[in-house]
Amino acid sequence: MGYQNLIAQAMAAKESAYAPYSRFRVGAALLTANGKVYTGCNVENVSFSATNCAERTAVYKAVSEGEREFSAIVIHGDNHDYLPPCGICRQVLAEFCDLDSFQVILANNEQDYKVMTLAELLPGAFQPGDLKPGNILPEL
Ligand code: THU
Repeated sequence: MGYQNLIAQAMAAKESAYAPYSRFRVGAALLTANGKVYTGCNVENVSFSATNCAERTAVYKAVSEGEREFSAIVIHGDNHDYLPPCGICRQVLAEFCDLDSFQVILANNEQDYKVMTLAELLPGAFQPGDLKPGNILPEL
């Protein structure tokens, strides 16, 4: 499958980035299993730790609209060669996405991109299936 259209949407989403502190704009485009696209950009904050990455913006938009099954995400950043998602975004993607089949597309532009799986980016991920009630609290 060609990712040109999804890449174009991530590049367009970058234009909405709010990044006055880092001056580093990022756009993402998340493809659902049924073919819808949710875009996101980074939204920074003067309290730096409150910053939200482009990827999480896209995931939270989609989940808040009722989506939970995803097949791919494009990530595109300003002046960066194949921008990789940060660790927090990898963990958030692992909450909803199959490690082996979900495609992470690191795109410089529509022609120049690298496709990776979530398993490659987050080996040994802690996933929802790892949390069992018995692991949280001892039996009383
Ligand atoms: N950022 C993203 O939005 N996604 C990434 O994958 C890496 C980093 C943002 C966060 C912050 O606003 C800026 O890039 C610099 O770290």
